[in-house]
Amino acid sequence: MSKNKIIIGNWKMNPSTQKEAEKLFVDITKSIFGVQKTEIVICPPFLYLEKLRSASRRTKKISLGAQNVFYEEAGPYTGEISASMLEDLGIKYVIVGHSKRRELGETGLDINKKIKASLSAGLVPILCVGETVRDESHSYFNLVKTQLEECLDGVKKDLISKIIIAYEPIWAISSTPNHKDATPADCEEMSLFIKKILVDKFGVKIKIPRIIYGGDVNEKNVQDFLKDGGVEGVLVGRVSLDAVKFMEIIKICEALSQ
Ligand code: PGA
Repeated sequence: MSKNKIIIGNWKMNPSTQKEAEKLFVDITKSIFGVQKTEIVICPPFLYLEKLRSASRRTKKISLGAQNVFYEEAGPYTGEISASMLEDLGIKYVIVGHSKRRELGETGLDINKKIKASLSAGLVPILCVGETVRDESHSYFNLVKTQLEECLDGVKKDLISKIIIAYEPIWAISSTPNHKDATPADCEEMSLFIKKILVDKFGVKIKIPRIIYGGDVNEKNVQDFLKDGGVEGVLVGRVSLDAVKFMEIIKICEALSQ
């Protein structure tokens, strides 16, 4: 497991204007002076990517990611954006299979095609998996297993390590009504399970990809997840819109990366 951590900020459909997006980005970049080891990725809405790319080139410490991608290369796909378009813009990462997109009807097959298209274009897919509820019969393990098997079907063994897998239990995500706190133990158990599924599917010789955690990560719980959750990074939603708190998370990650 790499000692250096990765922090991914998922801005979702925020903020409302490009001006606010630029301000938030600049506020984050201003405060990361001295951060050497932590990999930082910001995933703003598509529309802001181009403007923020210029700002990110100046600091070189923050990479940009998209929150979605379409799987075809080109054609009459009104409203869609291809992986090669993102790559051409200098984007490195792309979130695929976020629970909010699955809720809108995205299937395992769609996600599988998005992962393959992203890998072919040289992007790093951040594949989100996670159960809606935890039941006493532990069927959530089967659900995550099915998600992984569907989404990674036919992906070449040697490309598996290029993917980042984000375990995001939906019941712990901040926007889920009455969400509950996941514990580092919940996270560690699932991280081990994900590794087992990958080895079962792709063989013992594969290089295990990075596994990260997402679900109401904040400046108070991040240390515990990174120390005891069996993960190499975090995917931060709500708190990534607060430059001060996001910076605190980065500092904690940096201290653990030393
Ligand atoms: P949250 O979002 O940190 O606000 O819970 C995480 C996510 O949905 O990716």
